[in-house]
Amino acid sequence: MTKFTEVKASTYDEMSREAAKIIFDDLKAKKDTVLGLATGSTPEGMYDALSTMINEADLDLSEVTTFNLDEYVGLDEDNDQSYHYFMDKNLFSKIDVPKENIHILNGVADNIEKEVKEYEALIDEKGIDIQVLGIGRNGHIAFNEPGTSFDSLTHRVQLTDETIEDNARFFEKKEDVPTEALSMGLATIMKAKKIILLISGANKQEARDLFVSGEVSEDVPVSILHNHPNVILLTDSEARGE
Ligand code: GLP
Repeated sequence: MTKFTEVKASTYDEMSREAAKIIFDDLKAKKDTVLGLATGSTPEGMYDALSTMINEADLDLSEVTTFNLDEYVGLDEDNDQSYHYFMDKNLFSKIDVPKENIHILNGVADNIEKEVKEYEALIDEKGIDIQVLGIGRNGHIAFNEPGTSFDSLTHRVQLTDETIEDNARFFEKKEDVPTEALSMGLATIMKAKKIILLISGANKQEARDLFVSGEVSEDVPVSILHNHPNVILLTDSEARGE
């Protein structure tokens, strides 16, 4: 098992600032950094802190490229529950990454097969320098649910009932939550040079403990990260049960 680094923050805000600082330093060191980005409530604070740091330093992002992990099938970018919308609201409306350098899977593509293949090929061409990850209660990363092959590339997925229920809080009713998504695969995520995993809140303590226990199994998608040489885990005290 690889030894990952755990940054033990006390509060959510502190965890968010620490994560933002890691990305900010990478952006400063390499003008053409390729960022892998995540959605969910966990990274919101980090995006907030990161956009403030970038704007205060007047950092040039004209050569930065981004790839998002996933998107719901059937929601277009104007839908306020889509991950396109989330990213625009939480990050891209606040900083100046050229629009043509922003890549998010198209959940309403006519040809889904082509969409996922081309996305994977583009990731291979550009290479991701630093990938941000949150985690689902069942240990999923992106939308790779338990049982997903460690060899998986960008693909179409069926969401589990647990994930649909967890994400229903963002929708008017559970029936509105899409049942399918497009997602980078686990092998796609592993291609990133560096990975930062954010785990916050008491409801994620079990998932955090599962990861930290070190057991590697396809039943726990996040456990694949033990096979990666450069993982930073950032937690707040609630996620550690302290
Ligand atoms: C969704 C996303 C994941 C995210 C997870 C947890 O399933 N596809 O990338 O990590 O939700 O989200 P939250 O941070 O809101 O708990």
